[in-house]
Amino acid sequence: MAIILDGTKLSNKINKKTKNEIESLGISPNLVAVQVGENPESSLYISHKSKKSVEVGIVLSHLKFDEAIDTKTLIKEINKLNKDSSVDGIMIQLPLPNHIDTKLICQSISPQKDVDGFHPLNKGLLDINKADLIPPTAQGVIELLNEYNIPLAGKTVAIIGLGEIAGKPLAKIFVNNDATVLMCNKKTINIFKFTKEADIVVVAVGHKYLLDETQIKKGSIVINIGITKDEEGIHGDVVFESMLKKASYITPIIGGTGPMTVSLLLRNTLICRKLK
Ligand code: GUN
Repeated sequence: MAIILDGTKLSNKINKKTKNEIESLGISPNLVAVQVGENPESSLYISHKSKKSVEVGIVLSHLKFDEAIDTKTLIKEINKLNKDSSVDGIMIQLPLPNHIDTKLICQSISPQKDVDGFHPLNKGLLDINKADLIPPTAQGVIELLNEYNIPLAGKTVAIIGLGEIAGKPLAKIFVNNDATVLMCNKKTINIFKFTKEADIVVVAVGHKYLLDETQIKKGSIVINIGITKDEEGIHGDVVFESMLKKASYITPIIGGTGPMTVSLLLRNTLICRKLK
């Protein structure tokens, strides 16, 4: 039976550290979460982050804009936050509506307030292994593996899904840690050829049950990032129960990489405050 990589437990530990540091510095960092439109999932994510912020002593302000806002106007609003010295961190809740240029919006955030690590400067710093602000979901996976003393150097890692939030930054971090990374995208022919070879398999697609135990080698480490919701509930990109028998370690679908993302977002807010 695989060992469960307990993201809830580690995230509580990280939150406690963040809280202690905030208290000992006698500060109260401010994070602004920007939402465009009324996407109910985005609202839910932000309200969850808001609850966790309170627990660690971070003040989260939820700034909502009308769905119809254009890219130029949104950039002007972000510039106001960039200039506001009371704002430590800025998070743009993704996805943005289709008519908005997400890349331009991410470029408009001050790199020192970029809690998601989406600004090109922070992406470049990650390339050279010098980033202070690393995308939380990606960093969360690495810290979870570190917590269970799983070495990365020399390991073959298959990453399915190369999005900006998780897969792509994660590939860079694995490379920085001397792993061999097989980066699979939508056009990759026969992704299972790569997953069957890998010591660590990461799936960040948002495709229900994409991977089961027949597509991994025995003893591999399985990291589920993507989730999908339907009338039956929340489902992983991997079939958790079938993987349990064959993997050596696995993240649960709920309580794995999700809580780690929130903890590292909050820790990044503290880092932003300290970068001032
Ligand atoms: N939407 C889904 N996940 C994330 C995330 O990690 N950061 C942001 N900004 N938006 C998201």
